[in-house]
Amino acid sequence: MARAAGVSPADEVGLRADAGGDDALVVRPAARLRGRPALPGDKSISHRALLLALLAEGESHIAGAGDGEDVHSTAGVIAALGARVERVAERAGRVDYRVVSPGGDALVEPEGILDCGNSGTTTRLVAGLLAGRDLFAVLDGDASLRRRPMSRVVEPLRQMGATFAGRRGDTLLPLAVTGRARLSPIDYATPVPSAQVKSAILLAGLAADGETRVSETVATRDHTERMLRARGVRVHETLDADGRHTVAISGPARVAAVSETVPADSSGAAFWLVAGAIHPDAELHLDGVSTNPTRRTIIDILRRMGADIEEIAIEAPGGPGGEPLADLVVRSSRLRGIDVSPAEVAAAIDEIPVLCLAAAAASGTTLIRGVGELRHKESDRVAGIADGLRALGADIRVEGDDIEIRGGRPLVGAVTETLDDHRLAMTFAVAGLIAEGETIVRRPGSAAISYPGFFHELGGVRA
Ligand code: S3P
Repeated sequence: MARAAGVSPADEVGLRADAGGDDALVVRPAARLRGRPALPGDKSISHRALLLALLAEGESHIAGAGDGEDVHSTAGVIAALGARVERVAERAGRVDYRVVSPGGDALVEPEGILDCGNSGTTTRLVAGLLAGRDLFAVLDGDASLRRRPMSRVVEPLRQMGATFAGRRGDTLLPLAVTGRARLSPIDYATPVPSAQVKSAILLAGLAADGETRVSETVATRDHTERMLRARGVRVHETLDADGRHTVAISGPARVAAVSETVPADSSGAAFWLVAGAIHPDAELHLDGVSTNPTRRTIIDILRRMGADIEEIAIEAPGGPGGEPLADLVVRSSRLRGIDVSPAEVAAAIDEIPVLCLAAAAASGTTLIRGVGELRHKESDRVAGIADGLRALGADIRVEGDDIEIRGGRPLVGAVTETLDDHRLAMTFAVAGLIAEGETIVRRPGSAAISYPGFFHELGGVRA
């Protein structure tokens, strides 16, 4: 696991080795928060831009991609499958890539395993992409990824004609994939709302003879749909009166090479939205954040809690992905507890840990229902967030798949365990901005998975 790079030398946020020899981040309360933290490029869009660049024959340009370890995993995988991947520029946690690919029909059979690191999105989307390619490959990853369920992609992709073999009845990594140049289309209803599963099936659908349909009870992030359209693939979407969302594509279909700019990551921005809202003297500016309807739920939830978030829509920088963008300003707010529905949890799945912190700082009770999927993320985030916030003095209960937080108790610095999960590491570091005394974030290096500059920015906004 990488160390927390770029930690501010300011003594209020600093790294030290704890007694066990592990890194620990020490965060002390900030008197005020001001500034414009640099945000990473959106992780979901960066993965997809690289994978679609692999499928497109010729040269693709991706500006402002996220420079976290997960995106590096995807870059490594597409290189192993035959793409030439060049980092042409770097700035403030962003990278511009130039990718030259032989195209989806001429991929190279990888010599070694495809190392997906910590990234579930890399694994599941690559499984879908490879299902429809005539080659053999083995997907593997770190200890966390080896615990995460893969049957959710194996099952539908098998129905389409691909062959899988993996550990524990083909449900866990390492996972061997034998693809087929022509797949059968399916009409599939996902058992749990998941953009990764939907995307895996759509990528396989590019190699299917006929119409592949995926439906889900909640419209999950739609970057794959938008980006396929921008590359010349016809994608048809319908929304039923009961909220069921269906996406259909007709195969076989080719994707064109494009140039694209990646917006700032709304999930990364969420840490600052919460930091600004819960801190008594804060004003933070977040530039160029994706406000895609399938990603902005955290903004809407926080506003319902009373957060002062200003949103200034800006024109998209001409990229064909067509993500709506806004500059956001968050100011100190008086938050109150609310009920958060299972559909909102599905739509704000990556923001739930930091939302729990907002709830702990709010007055009144917040009930977050239907959080079961959080147990299958980079860590068991239900246990991780409950243990960490409880250590800091919050009143948080887990009943089945619901989290109840009685807010308003003052947080007091304590030792928190990140479980090597980036979203827990960043949540506990934000908690340290308002908790009395010293908050110790043990093993914080996982922040580099999605937001390598986070601790540096944390030092900057308190200066
Ligand atoms: C992602 C989808 C979500 C999310 C993950 C990124 C994506 O996972 O949690 O961080 O880029 O498609 P699920 O599809 O498992 O909900």
